[in-house]
Amino acid sequence: MTKDISNCKSWLEAWNIYYEPEKEMEPEDPNAICVSSVDESGMPNGRFVLLKEVTEIGFLFYTNLDSQKGLELFTNKKGALTWWSRKQGKSVRVQGEVEQVSDIIADQYWKSRSVDAQVSASISRQSQPLASREQMEQEWDDFKKSYEGKDIPRPANWTGIYIKPLKIEFWQHHGEYTTRLHDRIVFSKKWR
Ligand SMILES: Cc1cc2nc3c(=O)[nH]c(=O)nc-3n(C[C@H](O)[C@H](O)[C@H](O)COP(=O)(O)O)c2cc1C
Repeated sequence: MTKDISNCKSWLEAWNIYYEPEKEMEPEDPNAICVSSVDESGMPNGRFVLLKEVTEIGFLFYTNLDSQKGLELFTNKKGALTWWSRKQGKSVRVQGEVEQVSDIIADQYWKSRSVDAQVSASISRQSQPLASREQMEQEWDDFKKSYEGKDIPRPANWTGIYIKPLKIEFWQHHGEYTTRLHDRIVFSKKWR
């Protein structure tokens, strides 16, 4: 039985009602979200990332600030994200302001990551073309060896980004999926 979110006092309460059951229903990456940004010519751009935390501040994911998304999101400090649950027939979309997490929070999360993930983030020149896959794999091996028995420091350009909701829409299919009938409930802040 789906819980009604129309009486929720906050978007976070509604988000938790949507997201919590997904963790059991979808064991593989229930937290995949599409993050959208806009490039300098106004062209929209989207890609998947993994959501790491949702609090009253907003939706947090980690990435490389020099990546295309990093550059685009911080150019106008606005971003959007979309999440979908096939199993529940639900979707959430968010438009909001972009903010970087503090170094303390980024460091804490960095330490919780596997060594292999730390190596990949450290050698990554995300969104830049590579000379060859072999070269990248060699760099990966060399870097890992050079840090054997030592802590790998978090690269300064690898950190967390919040999308802080200004408008958030909760979508839920209604009745038979094939009818395409659905409910949409919007929480919004005045920002214009
Ligand atoms: C399921 C999935 C999860 C991903 N998670 C992340 C992530 O958490 N952070 C990240 O930077 N890239 C992640 N990626 C890779 C991005 O989709 C993307 O290829 C990369 O970040 C470069 O994007 P950009 O050039 O638009 O900045 C993920 C890809 C997939 C398919």
